[in-house]
Amino acid sequence: MIESDPVGNPLRCLVLGGTGHVGAETCRALARDGHRVAFTYRRNEALAQKLLKELPGSIAIRAELTRWDDAVRAVEEGAKALGGLDALLQCAGTAGDPKLYEPGAEKFLGIDAAGWRDMLDVTAQSTFAAAQAACRLMPPGGPGTILIVGSMDGVKAVPAPVHYAAAKGALRAMTQALAQELGKRGIRVNMLAPGLLDGGVASLLPPKLLEDYLKHCSLKRLGTAREIAEVAAWFVRENTYVTGQTILLDGGL
Ligand SMILES: NC(=O)c1ccc[n+]([C@@H]2O[C@H](COP(=O)([O-])OP(=O)(O)OC[C@H]3O[C@@H](n4cnc5c(N)ncnc54)[C@H](OP(=O)(O)O)[C@@H]3O)[C@@H](O)[C@H]2O)c1
Repeated sequence: MIESDPVGNPLRCLVLGGTGHVGAETCRALARDGHRVAFTYRRNEALAQKLLKELPGSIAIRAELTRWDDAVRAVEEGAKALGGLDALLQCAGTAGDPKLYEPGAEKFLGIDAAGWRDMLDVTAQSTFAAAQAACRLMPPGGPGTILIVGSMDGVKAVPAPVHYAAAKGALRAMTQALAQELGKRGIRVNMLAPGLLDGGVASLLPPKLLEDYLKHCSLKRLGTAREIAEVAAWFVRENTYVTGQTILLDGGL
């Protein structure tokens, strides 16, 4: 089933972090499904330009998502350019300071106040501020979709920097509370929790950690951004009754 608005127009989707490993594939999957796509980027202007060419009719918005006001502005600009908003997909994120991933690094004591703030701002605050703005702009009574890409680190005990796991855990709790709050507006809120993927933030991980992952992962391989994007696209295209859930996509860890 493809849900569309009452006059049969495509759904209007905003992807935060559209220039990321997961975000770019998510934009492609949504466009392929016939939806209208706007996406944010921060530094990767080259990929933003490439996506604009690849996905005719798409819209790129530069946003610094550590700033509350910029997250709100990005949603408002996206909705204006799309002529409304049916789905918000949060694919922006950071792994934090690359030094935290060097062998022997302190994944707790090595995190300072600025690192903590940056992590929580780009992950949890931006999601909160963008979801609040989106909720004001989605059709009253729905249907609406908020789909958050989090991580297995917010669900399972894995050797992650502590602020990364804390921020992803906040997303998981936010997903549950938002789903409770927004159900009456017809907005479904869910989270995808990927394991390790073949690029993006996982590129910082030391080979030893990747080896350990492959040893314990049932499917014996890393996931792909495409696999995450296809599930995200399903939530936009098909989902009518799932809300408040965190779906692990970790190859069976
Ligand atoms: N890759 C994995 O193995 C993996 C595994 C589990 C969970 N995840 C989660 O999935 C999400 C996407 O990860 P990814 O691998 O696609 O990451 P990525 O390739 O590093 O992309 C990150 C995206 O977020 C944007 N971004 C980062 N900091 C920003 C900021 N301060 N303001 C605005 N935009 C910002 C980037 O924009 P620019 O590039 O334009 O600057 C980019 O679009 C993250 O939440 C990550 O934690 C990833």
